[in-house]
Amino acid sequence: MPLPLISELTDPKTTIPRDAIARGWVRTRRESKSGVSFVHISDGSCQHTLQLVVPSSLSNYTTEVSKLGPGCSIEAAGQLVNSTGRGQQVELLVTELKIVGWVDNPDTYPIQPKRHSLEFLRDHAHLRPRTNTFGAVARIRDSLSAHVHRYLRSMGFIWVHTPIITPSDCEGAGALFRVSTLDWANRSSSGDYSEDFFGKETFLTVSGQLQLETYCSALSRVYSFGPTFRAENSNTSRHLAEFWMVEPEIAFADLSDDAALALDFLRAVVSGVLEDCTQEMQFFQDHVDNQCIERAKAFVDASAERLEYSEVVDLLTRAEAGGHNFEFPVRYGMDLQSEHERYLTEHIVKRPVVVSNFPRTLKPFYMRLNDDDRTVAAMDILVPGVGEIVGGAQREERLEVLDRRMQEMRLSPDSYWWYRDLRLFGTVPHAGFGLGLERMLCYLTGLSNVRDVIPFPRTPRHADI
Ligand code: 4AD
Ligand code: MG
Repeated sequence: MPLPLISELTDPKTTIPRDAIARGWVRTRRESKSGVSFVHISDGSCQHTLQLVVPSSLSNYTTEVSKLGPGCSIEAAGQLVNSTGRGQQVELLVTELKIVGWVDNPDTYPIQPKRHSLEFLRDHAHLRPRTNTFGAVARIRDSLSAHVHRYLRSMGFIWVHTPIITPSDCEGAGALFRVSTLDWANRSSSGDYSEDFFGKETFLTVSGQLQLETYCSALSRVYSFGPTFRAENSNTSRHLAEFWMVEPEIAFADLSDDAALALDFLRAVVSGVLEDCTQEMQFFQDHVDNQCIERAKAFVDASAERLEYSEVVDLLTRAEAGGHNFEFPVRYGMDLQSEHERYLTEHIVKRPVVVSNFPRTLKPFYMRLNDDDRTVAAMDILVPGVGEIVGGAQREERLEVLDRRMQEMRLSPDSYWWYRDLRLFGTVPHAGFGLGLERMLCYLTGLSNVRDVIPFPRTPRHADI
């Protein structure tokens, strides 16, 4: 077994006193008047650091210990005891300290024990995991992902690994990254995709949904969870070119089953994170957003508001009439912009809201046409602070309607032959949704930019590491 992590050494259940070895990276070192060094080390296993009490009697005290600074990696052996000092329960009385790796020229080490701006840290994406903020984000992201799998497994869902390379544009928005081995660099390519690797045009997936529907039409409850790519040229705080999406899909289900599943799922994962990550959530509460724990708890306990798209338009129109100015004027048929979503959740209903039945002109071809012929059975879940975190729909299971919708949107039925087959052979009502992992993380942590909740953000003109 490897040596215990700081999370284990600082766990209230650990036996004390006892001999222990700790390893980690120095956060701070302070020398007391009596010549003892207090060294705080972190190993990323928890929000705490471990305090090492290093006496000047160590043989390498003057030559090494007194030169330790932020970022050095060390291994310390000694006795773990209850701490009488403030700020920690336990500390390690060090009897031997080995330097594992020095920081080459400490003046050039970017991560100093002070507050760095998130923008500064984005430029140091390889070192930002060493900060409290990014350690906490990484652990919450891990916990959230684990709860996604845990909840869906517990409900009988099967994880299907949908492809990353795909010939189809699921959302029909045209924001696709091309996958090609043609020699574009030398511009000698004719753009004839029959000569390309796959013999046709292929892209990075914008959603695993269409392929997932094939498994849903056989295994009933399935989901995909993985990286998703969109080449939208949007430099906003909620768009990434590469993000993670979890997409559950259920057979023999309609829009109301879909919304019920989405809310139950969201409550379960939020509650799981609150349970796992108490220190991390407290950290965000103290340093980023003093509402974040309360908001997450309310999300678990309270019901969501449910509104039709047309009702949302009415509410926003009334807000406009009441003097609120939107950059994009409100009218029936408009796509809800982030400003509308946020005004609705933050000022009108003041809690999460499920918006359903959008005009068909706003949504992709696969969404089921409602009887009014004007709207589709779509639902978005909006939350305060972020806006849309979930997009979902009941799928069009009637082949003749699907064909009409594809024609309307100028999509070639031939490219979707396999998708049409699902409607030809034992079609069933089915529905699903996609949750953007990064938007959920922004909601949980109160961090306002999706670039700060994914390890390596990809946005227009940024793919540095
Ligand atoms: O609403 P979207 O586009 O829905 C779909 O892709 C459906 N095929 C999902 C389904 O029904 N299976 O995307 C779903 C969610 C959004 O609500 C948002 O949270 C997130 O994915 N998302 C993004 N997150 C970060 N950056 C982007 N560029 C995003 N685009 C969508
Ligand atoms: Mg959407």
